[in-house]
Amino acid sequence: MTLRIDKYISNATDLSRVETKRFIKAGEVTVDGEIITNPAQKISGDEEICIDGSIISKAAHRYFMLNKPAGVVSATRDNSHTTALDLIYEHRSAELQVAGRLDVDTTGLLLITDDGQWNHRLTAPRSDCQKIYRVELATPISPDYQERLANGVWLEGEKHPCLPATLEVLDDQTVLLSIAEGKYHQVKRMFAALGNHVKALHRRQVGGITLDETLEPGEYRALTPDEVASII
Ligand code: URA
Repeated sequence: MTLRIDKYISNATDLSRVETKRFIKAGEVTVDGEIITNPAQKISGDEEICIDGSIISKAAHRYFMLNKPAGVVSATRDNSHTTALDLIYEHRSAELQVAGRLDVDTTGLLLITDDGQWNHRLTAPRSDCQKIYRVELATPISPDYQERLANGVWLEGEKHPCLPATLEVLDDQTVLLSIAEGKYHQVKRMFAALGNHVKALHRRQVGGITLDETLEPGEYRALTPDEVASII
């Protein structure tokens, strides 16, 4: 990573870009002990940066959970729908990204962060992070679903079967499905492969992070340090 020293300082402190430049031009900023006077100087982020003798540390990464309402898209920008990021009222919101998208009609736990590595750990194809969905089905489940899901159902157009998934039956048309993958429309396609149809889909859990039941649809909160650390 390389970034401009003035941007780094204004991200890491309460100083505006203009104030930061003023400090730099006045010779009050050092990088690894050397005074610098060019606000455009590039740094890697590993240096020790001081303003007026005090060390500043990089702005901490930010992590949020949103209870995504139906009708909101997970994309960063969209011309016709409200996006998840439109619901996050934070400074420097342009740096935030959704970690693991949900379909427009899916509700529930959506994670949002500016930490690219954390996002990658959660969403990389080889990440084995379990996701739990509450699924309402159009027709009653069959007794063979559990076994077929445990063996790995085959989605249309895929070269390999799904990884084993587990099912907890809540009633004959409502289940909790736990999966380790995140293919396009995965849950809907899994139940289509079983000859059923998903009427409503709600994500409850991703890895060790469970949707906070006190969040109304559209509300969000910062993750706790334990929740952040649970994604390894
Ligand atoms: N699977 C789906 O089909 N849709 C989602 O939004 C998430 C998982």
